[in-house]
Amino acid sequence: MDHSRNPYTPGAGTPPPALVGRDDELAAGRTVIARTSRGRVAQPPILYGLRGVGKTVLLKALQAQADKAGWLTVEIEGTQTASQQDQTRQRLARALVTSARALTPPRRTSQAWQRALATISAFSVAVGPLGMTATLGVDPARGRADSGDPSIDVEELVSDLVPALKESGIALAVFVDEIQDLDAATLSALIATQHRASQKGWPFHLYGAGLPNVPGRMAEVHSYAERFHFMRIGALSARDARSALESPAAAEGVSFTEPAVERLVQVSGGYPYFIQVYGDQAWRNAPGPSSITYDDALAAVTTGTAVLDESLFHSRWDRATPAQKHLMRAMAEDRSSSQLSDLVSRLGKRRPSDLSVARDALIKKGLIFAPDRGMLQFTVPHMDDYIRRQHEG
Ligand SMILES: Nc1ncnc2c1ncn2[C@@H]1O[C@H](COP(=O)(O)OP(=O)(O)OP(=O)(O)O)[C@@H](O)[C@H]1O
Ligand SMILES: [Mg+2]
Repeated sequence: MDHSRNPYTPGAGTPPPALVGRDDELAAGRTVIARTSRGRVAQPPILYGLRGVGKTVLLKALQAQADKAGWLTVEIEGTQTASQQDQTRQRLARALVTSARALTPPRRTSQAWQRALATISAFSVAVGPLGMTATLGVDPARGRADSGDPSIDVEELVSDLVPALKESGIALAVFVDEIQDLDAATLSALIATQHRASQKGWPFHLYGAGLPNVPGRMAEVHSYAERFHFMRIGALSARDARSALESPAAAEGVSFTEPAVERLVQVSGGYPYFIQVYGDQAWRNAPGPSSITYDDALAAVTTGTAVLDESLFHSRWDRATPAQKHLMRAMAEDRSSSQLSDLVSRLGKRRPSDLSVARDALIKKGLIFAPDRGMLQFTVPHMDDYIRRQHEG
């Protein structure tokens, strides 16, 4: 079918043609904005779930709500690379400067905002030569928010911004994607600031998205973590998955036959990234001008699975060491999650601690997580199928 009209969007963080099945999360976001505008304490959502369920696009949608409300918004992403601490703080500072500069000029001239911008610029000077001081025309010698200790800095920064934010009736919101990979100091600083904000009624919010270990990681870094509104993002229901496939096609005058859509819903397991990949392949494979048939769907299952192997599974599998691959192969024998004790005997080990090096490294790489004590599970849906396919073929 005409690829120029292909509506499917397989890709990390690519907004889908229809953001289906996420009404509760979007409503939670609207509640945060409404409560904040009434000066009430609000708990922003922290989204967590498996790879490819749509956390990034949902986080972006929540940020779009905040932008629309005129808030100051900042987005950063946790990374696994070394020297990330400085990099992340620099990104945070740069993003703050950029978003403060985007404020409407009348706001910038008010006294409260002049003071706020001075703090922002001191913060950015402290984290690196950003060359923004002159542009903002402020005195960086005030010495606030430039201690180099993120826990003091972020909190001071926000506390100095509060009068200006309140004057404008807006909030500052930091959106952190892959929050499980944020370095402990920055994460702890953001959580502490959020905690202080809810105690003092500051209009500051921390939103986040990441893997299933996020609630645990946030609790480990800071004991205030229970104050967050954790929302688990899962696969779409069969009904929503069907609508994610059918409605973008219908908007282009294209329909699926019943067996075709059923097959694609089933093979996708309702996982948004899979839906987009199989939808995209079905569209590409279909010769007819306005209909996707069962045969087109079957062809899409074959080519889509190859695309998933290439884009999702293969690189992750390749990144693992031989010992880590052993552990993952043993895990793949279970359908969903694995008992650590089973893995120990399956691999001929004596104690669970014999597996801890491989286990910890795979958790750090974001390939597996512990859904419960003594349990392990893949973060990528259908990773077990992939591993079995590799070793059967
Ligand atoms: N609600 C939805 N309905 C339909 N498609 C969606 C939905 N949410 C996300 N998608 C699609 O799913 C894919 C993955 O989305 P996204 O990158 O947000 O997932 P993620 O959970 O952040 O993944 P990762 O853990 O790898 O970062 C994209 O192709 C996106 O277009
Ligand atoms: Mg993502």
